[in-house]
Amino acid sequence: MESYLNSNEIIKNSLKSMKLPEKVRVFDTTLRDGEQTPGVSLMPDQKMDIAKNLSEIGVDAIEAGFPVSSEGEQESIKNITSLGLDAEICGLARAVKKDIDVAIDCGVDSIHTFIATSPLHREYKLKMSKEKIIDIAVESIEYIKEHGVIVEFSAEDATRTELDYLKEVYKKAVEAGADRINVPDTVGVMVPNSMSYLIKELKNDIKVPISVHCHNDFGIAVSNSVAAVEAGAEQVHCTVNGLGERAGNASLEETVMTLNMVYGINTNVNTKMLTKLSKLVSHYTGIKTQPNKAIVGENSFAHESGIHAHGVLANALTYEPIDPEIVGNRRRIVLGKHSGAHAIKSKLSEIGVEVGEIVSEEQFCEIVERVKAIGDKGKIVTDADVMAIAEDITKRT
Ligand code: KIV
Ligand code: ZN
Repeated sequence: MESYLNSNEIIKNSLKSMKLPEKVRVFDTTLRDGEQTPGVSLMPDQKMDIAKNLSEIGVDAIEAGFPVSSEGEQESIKNITSLGLDAEICGLARAVKKDIDVAIDCGVDSIHTFIATSPLHREYKLKMSKEKIIDIAVESIEYIKEHGVIVEFSAEDATRTELDYLKEVYKKAVEAGADRINVPDTVGVMVPNSMSYLIKELKNDIKVPISVHCHNDFGIAVSNSVAAVEAGAEQVHCTVNGLGERAGNASLEETVMTLNMVYGINTNVNTKMLTKLSKLVSHYTGIKTQPNKAIVGENSFAHESGIHAHGVLANALTYEPIDPEIVGNRRRIVLGKHSGAHAIKSKLSEIGVEVGEIVSEEQFCEIVERVKAIGDKGKIVTDADVMAIAEDITKRT
C-alpha cells in the first residue's frame, strides 16, 4: 500500500532512525472490552456475526468475551469457537481457576489472563501483597499451559505500577510460560513518550512478544498504541469504532490506518472493509459513530468550503490524506453557505444540469446565490434543493 513514507520528506526523515517492524498483530477486543461500553449488550447471533466479519477482515485475534461473566456469554463464545474462523479466538479470565476452567470449556485457542499490579489496585481492590500477586499470576499461567492453551498475560493497570515490580511480574509470567505479555494502560494515563519509554524498558527484559491495550481517557489511545509499536511492541489491542469502558479503547480503524499509511507497517487487515464493519458494529451496539470520526465517519471525506471543494475537485489529495476507497468510505461534496461556484457546478453536473447547456451562466449565478441563502439559514443544501432551484429558474425562461 502506498504510504506517506514514500512521499513526505518530513515523515520519512523523522522515522528514518526507527527500527520499525514490517508487520504488527491486531488483537481485536470489540466483543469483550467493546461490549463493556455502558449500555451495550450483544445477542449471541450478533456476536457471531461480528466475529465472522472480524475474521474476514483479517484481525489476528478476537477476544470473544469474558466467559465466566454469564451463561449467555459462554453460549456466545462456544458458538464463535465452533465456527472454525481463521482468527485466534481468545477468552478473558481473571487469574482464577474457575474463570480459566470456564474459558477452556468454551474451546478458546487462547486465554487472556490478568491480575492487577498497581498500588491502588493492590490496596483497595485485591488487598494483596506484591508477592501474593506474582504467585497467583504464575499459578494461573502454569495451569493454563497444562491445558495446552496459548496464554496472553496482562498486569492490569500496568502503567500505574512501580516499574521494577512490573518488570518482575512480567519476567515471572514469562518464566511460567506466558506466550505474550500485554501492557494495559487501564485508565489511559500514558502519553506517547511515556509509552515508548515503558515498552523499551520492558523489551530489555522480556523475550516474548509484547502487546499493548490502550484506553482513551485523554483521547490519545491510538497515539499511545502506535508509540508502543515504534518502541517495539508486536501487537496492539483495539476495538471497532473505539468502543470500550468509559472513553473506550484505541480504535481498530484509526490504529490500522495510521500504522499502514503513516508508518508503512502492514497488518493483515483488509482496509477496504473497515467502513462496512464500523457500520455493522454501530448497528448492533446502537452506538452511533460521530460524523467526524476519523477514517469511517460520514464526514471523514466530506468537503463543504468552496476552497476545499475546489481543491478536491481538481485533485482529491489536496484536502484528503488518503483515497476514501482504501477504507471503503466515500467522498462527498456538501453544499452550504461556504460552498463556492466549483462545488455547485459539479453538483449540478452530477444531477444532469450542465452549465452552459441546460442553465446559462447568468442562471448559474442565481443558483449559487440561492444555495448560499439556504446555507445562511443554518440548513444543509440537499440534492433535491439544488434540483428544485434549477427547475424553478429554468421554468421561468
Ligand atoms: O483495561 C484493562 O486493564 C483491561 C484488562 C482486562 C486487561 O481491559
Ligand atoms: Zn481494557
